[in-house]
Amino acid sequence: MCTNYEYFKRQNKERGSRCTSHSFTPGSSLLVIMARGCSSSSSGFSWLKLFAIVIGVLTPLVYFAEQRLESFYIFETDHLHDLAKRGIAAHGNDTRSVVKYIVDELAERPAVKNYINVEEEWVFNNAGGAMGAMYIIHASITEYLIIFGTAVGTEGHTGRHTADDYFHILTGTQLAYVPGEYEAEVYPQGSVHHLRRGDVKQYMMPGKCFALEYARGWIPPMLFFGFGDGLSSTLDFPTLWRTSYITGREMIKNLLQAKF
Ligand SMILES: *[C@@H]1O[C@H](CO)[C@@H](O)[C@H](O)[C@H]1NC(C)=O
Repeated sequence: MCTNYEYFKRQNKERGSRCTSHSFTPGSSLLVIMARGCSSSSSGFSWLKLFAIVIGVLTPLVYFAEQRLESFYIFETDHLHDLAKRGIAAHGNDTRSVVKYIVDELAERPAVKNYINVEEEWVFNNAGGAMGAMYIIHASITEYLIIFGTAVGTEGHTGRHTADDYFHILTGTQLAYVPGEYEAEVYPQGSVHHLRRGDVKQYMMPGKCFALEYARGWIPPMLFFGFGDGLSSTLDFPTLWRTSYITGREMIKNLLQAKF
């Protein structure tokens, strides 16, 4: 009689012996060996299998979600642009009041009011060589809304993102450049710079400039860009920690309310 346990052990032993008898020739790929289940662990379960299963499960989920990304969005691009323009019309270059005007309206808007952060928690942000500060109004898996800017100007790489980015200029001017052009794109106060998913530009805020930045698409992959300069250059760990804390807290808060 063969119990399940004995059967399992025998299977493992057979697998083990097959493994050891496999001679490692210089040309044979490590992947092939791993794929044969030749792991030294007693479970006989290779990391490659786990990886394959995770990819196998995630791929259809991501594909499915990708087809329906639109249905996860709670912010409307037309409304945000209109809101930014109305804020400027009401408060001009008093940007603190413009930001308050924007957040106050969002805090009363039924579709979004449960998903926004009304505390102005400012943190530095270094990414793509540019430096500024941001206040996270909303962060979830498919959207973020922040106030981003600097009072002293900055310049850098936009990053190549998995989301569409709408940069509503609240005060100051943003310039952008793409290879092949000889003139800058100019985005003045009240305009919106739409950086399409996958596109990349060099950008500059020649002086004081603040914007309402809205991104929609896949947000988690963008975080690598958002943290890159902090981890490789500034090493400003308190800022990295605070940024991670606020972003994580908002994403989880929204996930708990079924906002992806
Ligand atoms: C903000 O200041 C700039 C520069 O002084 C000026 O050109 C612009 O008209 C001002 N905007 C508003 C809405 O007052």
